[in-house]
Amino acid sequence: MVEYYGKNDFSGILALVGTDLKGEREDYMSLKVAVMGYGTIGSGVVEILEQNREVIAHRVGQELEVKSVLDLRDFEGDPIQKKIVKDYKQIAEDDEIDIVVETMGGVEPAYTFVKAMLLAGKSVTTSNKALVADKGAELIAIAREQNVNFLFEASVGGGIPIIRPLQSCLTGDVIEEIIGIVNGTTNYMLSKMSFWGKEFDEVLKEAQEKGYAEKDPTADIEGYDACRKIAILTSLVAGQQVDYEDIPTEGISKITASDFKYAKKIGREVKLLATSRRVGDTYVCRVAPYLIPASNPLYHVNDVFNAIFVKGNMLGDSMFYGSGAGKLPTASAVVGDIVEMAKNLKNNLYLEWNPEKLELADAEKVQARYFGRTRATDEQIEKAFGVVDYIDVGIDGEVGFTTSLMPEGELAKRADALRTKGELSVIRML
Ligand code: HSE
Repeated sequence: MVEYYGKNDFSGILALVGTDLKGEREDYMSLKVAVMGYGTIGSGVVEILEQNREVIAHRVGQELEVKSVLDLRDFEGDPIQKKIVKDYKQIAEDDEIDIVVETMGGVEPAYTFVKAMLLAGKSVTTSNKALVADKGAELIAIAREQNVNFLFEASVGGGIPIIRPLQSCLTGDVIEEIIGIVNGTTNYMLSKMSFWGKEFDEVLKEAQEKGYAEKDPTADIEGYDACRKIAILTSLVAGQQVDYEDIPTEGISKITASDFKYAKKIGREVKLLATSRRVGDTYVCRVAPYLIPASNPLYHVNDVFNAIFVKGNMLGDSMFYGSGAGKLPTASAVVGDIVEMAKNLKNNLYLEWNPEKLELADAEKVQARYFGRTRATDEQIEKAFGVVDYIDVGIDGEVGFTTSLMPEGELAKRADALRTKGELSVIRML
């Protein structure tokens, strides 16, 4: 049977050989891929390319073959060992390799390696949000100059399609708002605290034992990971560079089991949200724990799942939900990029993300309601926050309260005034 498989240099040959891609022919027909970093995600990519080999070949119109794997470690007893290379230049200088996967993490040396690959005329996909948030605009520009691609679907939301939908399906809309649960580790921890009434340290230990949280969990629990992800999404919808350093970021390390008692009493859950809302010609962003009501679809997103709520000015509300972290879900998004790039060799897919910095709107002007928990007296609370609604969950000497709307800029002042009277913990309300 003669079939046309797609726009690539081998489509003519494929048309003649039909759908049987196995056997000796694969050597000269296969498209060569290199993987930089054979850790959790990198090995997942190799596994998917092997396990779904045939279906991927049919979708691309060509076999994909992992030719080289860059890693400083050795993997004795693993068949991958014969493909291990120690110097990235071996990949950059290998003219047979068209597609490179970067799954090393961190900005350096990933940035140096990825840039070298693009300059050598190879397309690159990465799962590395630190790299994309920091150097995305520059790497996209280099890819455009070289007429290749730099794709990064896996950098936000793990296996959930979100970058490509924002870049293609939703390009007819002005994106008004993005609210994401984009960190699987903290969502797992908060879910466990909520379901089982456990304390922070206990669930952190569990998350580490399950392999969700890193040995050094700072990036997840302090919100830095989520901050980079919302910076990437906002850069994409704005078409301009959003610096993650400009986004006020607060993690979950101060959340306690008691907070969940109050949250439940008022029908809410605590979730770490990464938010971005359009204000005039720009966006206002924040990463912080929020108390969200059951009427919000994000309330129901539990465990390591991620969800990204997107409001378009024409689309209205939509939500992208799925496995936000983990080996195969994240590798699945990387392989999706590989297929896209394989179908578009020497055809740059235009991504709008120019390097000119977007000045974000002042987050201090955003009006919000707050939940507080303190040992101060009602009089002291009302002196600081005005009229409040009290919540009593039977914790001796402590009271919870919710405030009316007030600008973020006022929160610190009012909270500091109350803190002089007793401890205070505050969580924003959505
Ligand atoms: N540490 C990240 C998380 C991995 O827990 O979501 C996926 O980016």
